[in-house]
Amino acid sequence: MGDRILVFYGSYRSDRTGIRLADYLVRGLAARGNDVELIDARAIGLPILDRMYKEYPKGEAPAAMETLAGKIRGADAFVFVTGEYNWGPQPGLKNLTDHFLEEWFWRPAAIASYSAGRLSGARAGSAWHGTLSEMGMVVISSTLTVGSIAATLDADGKPTGSPGEFLDKAFPRFADDLAWWTEATRTQRARRPPPY
Ligand SMILES: Cc1cc2nc3c(=O)[nH]c(=O)nc-3n(C[C@H](O)[C@H](O)[C@H](O)COP(=O)(O)O)c2cc1C
Repeated sequence: MGDRILVFYGSYRSDRTGIRLADYLVRGLAARGNDVELIDARAIGLPILDRMYKEYPKGEAPAAMETLAGKIRGADAFVFVTGEYNWGPQPGLKNLTDHFLEEWFWRPAAIASYSAGRLSGARAGSAWHGTLSEMGMVVISSTLTVGSIAATLDADGKPTGSPGEFLDKAFPRFADDLAWWTEATRTQRARRPPPY
């Protein structure tokens, strides 16, 4: 089995479209032999942040939070599907990630941003880069930026038309870059266990 990769998505909207990109990435990364899981913040349903995971006494965190902490600790790499609300990342995604800190450390993170319009959520993606870095992840330089998401991916997350072809062309480099950093960080964690 390849790398264990978690794909995070954080829109809570009834008519959300970013799930198409999340599905596309799960399928594409799995087709490369990885063990991939979608982490849909809406389905997990963590409350608005009160206590971080680490602030609960051991064994007393809510079950969904405990399960997710274990999945984050057990992952080799993360992909964040980041939509843009008023130039910022989606609150559902931010809320989920803020619950954890040390659990994220020493692993690579890749950002795939999107929007309904032509700017591809690039402003949110750019802001999100700094946030993930602050949380101890190695944020890779390759990004996927998907504008006009509904014209790029159909409801099943399948690429459509020339925007879809463009996405298919961009994906391998993004995945290769993530795989390189995944191997590099895994090797380094084994060679020199993280100090904390
Ligand atoms: C509250 C809100 C704010 C938005 N702000 C932006 C924005 O700043 N830039 C942009 O390109 N699109 C913006 N959009 C449009 C989104 O790109 C579009 O609705 C997209 O489908 C949202 O992702 P989702 O469907 O996965 O929730 C906004 C949408 C909402 C609901």
